[in-house]
Amino acid sequence: MCVSDAIHLAIDSSFIHTDHLWCTPGSWVNYHYYGPDFYEELARIAQRGMFDMIFFGDAAETPENFGDGYATPLREGYRWPKHDMMPMIPLMAKAAPNLGFGLTMSTTYQHPFHVARLFSSLDHVTGGRVGWNAVTSAYKNEAANWGFDTMLPPQERYAKAGEHLKVVVDLWNSVEADAIIMDRDNGIFADPSKVHLINHEGHYFKVRGPLPCLPSRQGKPIIIQAGQSEDGMNLAAKYADMQFVSRRTNKSIAAHRAVLDELTVKHGRQPRDLGVFWQVRVVAGETREDAIRKERRFVDGLPANAGLIELSFQFGFDFSKLDGKMKLVDMVDMIKAQKTYWGPFEELLKTEDPDTEIEDLGRRWITERSNFIVGSVKEVADHIEGVHEAGGRNGGIILTKSYSAHGALRDFAELVVPELQRRGLVRKEYVHDTLRANLNS
Ligand SMILES: Cc1cc2nc3c(=O)[nH]c(=O)nc-3n(C[C@H](O)[C@H](O)[C@H](O)COP(=O)(O)O)c2cc1C
Repeated sequence: MCVSDAIHLAIDSSFIHTDHLWCTPGSWVNYHYYGPDFYEELARIAQRGMFDMIFFGDAAETPENFGDGYATPLREGYRWPKHDMMPMIPLMAKAAPNLGFGLTMSTTYQHPFHVARLFSSLDHVTGGRVGWNAVTSAYKNEAANWGFDTMLPPQERYAKAGEHLKVVVDLWNSVEADAIIMDRDNGIFADPSKVHLINHEGHYFKVRGPLPCLPSRQGKPIIIQAGQSEDGMNLAAKYADMQFVSRRTNKSIAAHRAVLDELTVKHGRQPRDLGVFWQVRVVAGETREDAIRKERRFVDGLPANAGLIELSFQFGFDFSKLDGKMKLVDMVDMIKAQKTYWGPFEELLKTEDPDTEIEDLGRRWITERSNFIVGSVKEVADHIEGVHEAGGRNGGIILTKSYSAHGALRDFAELVVPELQRRGLVRKEYVHDTLRANLNS
């Protein structure tokens, strides 16, 4: 996928640019919450910064895992509201003609025929600039919104995801690129021999096909997968063009890439067929002091329980009920039993002192959950280059958790990108206008 050594850039605009930011100085000023102007401007800034992609994550739920149901997250402005961002994409695509878009849809709750048709159609509207983040959905409350009493266990979620992805890919391949003839003289629109049934009958899905959509300018949408457990890694290695990964240190980034290299080969592909966007939280300033000031302002604006709310949301367990002195190492069985984010918890066990107490982790979680850097332009560029190197120069980074919206993206585009360009690591101009071609350049 990412054939060159270039650093590809994505920004996570799921809801983490909204979490706790509504009252931070400089955020959302003059914008209507969830209005298109905000997102069009976000797209324009990302395009000026030569980004490959803006990404929208999704969990179709209202977070209820902390304390008094959804009262606290709502009061404090955490992961709510969460609109379906699909209708925003064509507007953003018009505002930024080279930028790509990643959109999330669940393999557990959505039917593969619907996913294949919707993404194919969106790929046409955007001229070939769409990627599908195929998630298995590990948030407990989401299940209740789609008609399930409980969430499926992880192994079953991944088994269903494997079949789902196969069906989607088969549907996307069911129409050959030259199926349309448009021979007006002989009255032939399409060549039926180039359009195929898929006749899928599996454990979870029954789909006949063909897909009544044409291949797009980029052939088919990009596939992204973000699971980090063994099953998640296998799914990515088999089907994905890109993986989203949250690893906290360069050591664990290198280890992750080594596993992916092995798994891609096991699945009959090459390591370069699967690029990675490594998650990094960046706070950049003209000087180090400037960056530290921004970080302090962000942290000072956070509610005291912000970290515990996020831990509860991610791991599916109410952290408000735990003794703050409880140690990380004593939580293993309890977290495993929730069947939510096991991959990320394993990462935490590898990268934190096992004796870390919950109240300490809660205090640091918003800012230290993922790989991060707070620093001058040079320090940030060095850090990103280090991440890229550790990851085998095969992909790029996805920015996460901003300190202000749109300010954090603007700072990155205007301060950091020129330095990365000076180092020859980020494109100076777009040569292509499809997501696939941009990622492949
Ligand atoms: C950058 C990034 C973005 C993600 N976006 C979503 C998302 O939008 N929706 C979702 O349900 N999970 C999302 N995930 C979570 C993973 O898809 C996966 O469910 C989670 O890591 C738990 O699975 P695992 O135990 O295999 O790692 C994301 C993960 C990362 C690193």
